[in-house]
Amino acid sequence: MTSALLTGIGELVTNDPTVGDRSPLGILTNAALLVADGEVAWVGERSRAPEADTSVDVSGRAVIPGFVDSHSHLVFAGDRAAEFAARMTGEPYTAGGIRTTVAATRAATDETLTAGVGRLVSEMARQGTTKVEIKSGYGLTAHDESRALAIARQFTDQTTYLGAHVVPSEYADDVAAYVDLVTGPMLEASRPYARWIDVFCEDGAFDADQARTILTAGAAVGLGARLHANQLGPGPGVQVACEVGAASADHCTHLSDADVDALADSGVVATLLPGVEFSTRSPYPDARRLLAAGVTVALASDCNPGSCYTSSMPLCIALAVREMRMSPAEALWSATAGGARALRLDTVGRLGVGASADLVVLDAPSYLHLAYRPGVPLVSTVWRRGRPV
Ligand code: NIG
Ligand code: FE
Repeated sequence: MTSALLTGIGELVTNDPTVGDRSPLGILTNAALLVADGEVAWVGERSRAPEADTSVDVSGRAVIPGFVDSHSHLVFAGDRAAEFAARMTGEPYTAGGIRTTVAATRAATDETLTAGVGRLVSEMARQGTTKVEIKSGYGLTAHDESRALAIARQFTDQTTYLGAHVVPSEYADDVAAYVDLVTGPMLEASRPYARWIDVFCEDGAFDADQARTILTAGAAVGLGARLHANQLGPGPGVQVACEVGAASADHCTHLSDADVDALADSGVVATLLPGVEFSTRSPYPDARRLLAAGVTVALASDCNPGSCYTSSMPLCIALAVREMRMSPAEALWSATAGGARALRLDTVGRLGVGASADLVVLDAPSYLHLAYRPGVPLVSTVWRRGRPV
């Protein structure tokens, strides 16, 4: 077993409320962190650090848990820059744009799709993301959905089957037949590569009954549920997510009081994706209302070619603070521990003893700089499983 000591940490965010300042971020100052076998083996005051095989001095920089990006759509071909430009001159965002990417993705080779995912996953890693969830959803045939998931699986164990992203044009006149495909042969082909199942529950995509049917079929073969809910307008998505015990309801932009209560009572994580509202110039979700009700909030990128083509968790943090009035501490917690909750993982999103040593050394003395210095590349080095990447 080899060990490495990270020392000279000006500010260490552990997300362990039993250490340091006892806040939810569990902040230690003048700290050190010992890594052994890819895991955090010890955290504490620098002056009390144990011996290690090697030692790295980070010269007063801040160290935070790696970001857990619990919502992305990285398997696609082409881009929709023209659609973005049209939006910026007043066109609304609609679910229909997804079909443009479906056509490009179906026509792409495995090599092109794999290279595209690899490029985005490295882009994410350079910005501090150490765990990412990747959805399918731009194939919409049994073959294309399962190949998207097989490709995603090469990069992460958190893969989500989203055959129910939108009804493809060839099924426009027979939505029931498409739901049969999604819950039948497409599910069967996708299941070996998926951990989760998701549905875009929205006008223009799938309704509450269809969402229930699809999530239930997924559960029957062992897939955990998550849902795109209440993104473009009020609707039944959040209630369905709570009813089926989904891990997370994502977007949550248009919520009723009953939706907020249901999230608080059920413990379903509300995953907010402020890059989407930024990129579609739409009103942001009301994070304060969710936090006040005791809902667990996660932040994620939603990186996709349509509604939000950013891979940057630091940008999402800056938007959450500036536009959704989350405190910098709440935003960082939601982008790390919150993302881990949304994926039901307990070894990532924190730097307590026993956690995976997935961490980011910031070129800054404090995590506050993530929101204070928006747009500035503050990630100095990233470690995954105890090794610099
Ligand atoms: O999360 N809402 C559904 N899916 C994506 C958008 C996908 C697209 O526009 O291509 C989202 O915003
Ligand atoms: Fe999404």
